[in-house]
Amino acid sequence: MTGAQASYPPVPSHAFPKDLNMNLSGHTILITGGSAGIGLAFAKKFVELDNVVIVTGRRQSKLDEVKAANPKIHCIQSDVAKSADIKALAVKVAAEFPKLDFLMNNAGVFVNRNLSRPAKDLDSLMEEMDINVGGTIRTTSAFVDLITANKGTILNVSSGLAYVPLPSSPIYCATKAAVHSYTISLRFQLEAAGVRVIELLPPAVKTELTADIPEGGDFTVITTDVLVDATIKGLKADKTEIRVGQSGQLYWMQAIAPGFINAQLWKGSKSLVPPA
Ligand SMILES: NC(=O)c1ccc[n+]([C@@H]2O[C@H](COP(=O)([O-])OP(=O)(O)OC[C@H]3O[C@@H](n4cnc5c(N)ncnc54)[C@H](OP(=O)(O)O)[C@@H]3O)[C@@H](O)[C@H]2O)c1
Repeated sequence: MTGAQASYPPVPSHAFPKDLNMNLSGHTILITGGSAGIGLAFAKKFVELDNVVIVTGRRQSKLDEVKAANPKIHCIQSDVAKSADIKALAVKVAAEFPKLDFLMNNAGVFVNRNLSRPAKDLDSLMEEMDINVGGTIRTTSAFVDLITANKGTILNVSSGLAYVPLPSSPIYCATKAAVHSYTISLRFQLEAAGVRVIELLPPAVKTELTADIPEGGDFTVITTDVLVDATIKGLKADKTEIRVGQSGQLYWMQAIAPGFINAQLWKGSKSLVPPA
């Protein structure tokens, strides 16, 4: 795409960064929540593509397993819900990996919830907010100087459920809508600094997080390999919002027939609401 080409409808300039065909080798990449599932699949792929990769997670036992099976992956225990952990992580990474130029905010948790009764523990109601939203915001802030200095990339992992909520997991979906909105603002604010801000919106992916979601019916569950391959294509094509599989359908349905798609997802997820 060159500046001379007309496009209709008009798109904001950030939709087409100048340096097309993002090079996916030779980076230093930090993946929060990279000790399992989607984060680990990306960590392995990025190592294969000749990048230096650092992953975090809360459970040391998981990080030890990752290190034993993938000696090239650097593992650091750190909880994105704890400001002190993130501060310490930022200091350690800046000292040991000063070329860090790719931050993947991936750590996340998912809970089905029943909203029809008061929660027994009001603090635990905020778990997804603290990790999925708070973790993304805190980590981005702690690393923004380093990423800016290295003219790097921030990739936030939200979900197709950022567009349309699955009512059985109401707080989770609200966190992903928040990450979606935050990412748009972040992209505009960092554009002048030359930092690329990308959002990955996966559909249902087979990991520990989706263990409770039944396959078949309204939900197609893809593998992490399919997600990684589609994302790599999206990154190479310089997409800023990478919608994989059913996330693309949710995007369009939300724009065209929001009432219909909201009702469909309620119908499909009603049975997942835990008893009150
Ligand atoms: N799977 C899906 O269908 C799907 C769809 C759309 C979007 N996503 C998003 O993709 C991301 C990864 O999900 P996943 O399916 O790979 O989940 P997963 O298999 O459960 O893995 C989650 C990873 O995050 C880590 N983690 C959780 N809480 C953390 C915290 N407070 N601080 C640091 N690390 C933490 C976990 O390790 P510890 O527990 O040891 O900390 C683990 O490494 C999430 O943001 C999720 O919302 C997933």
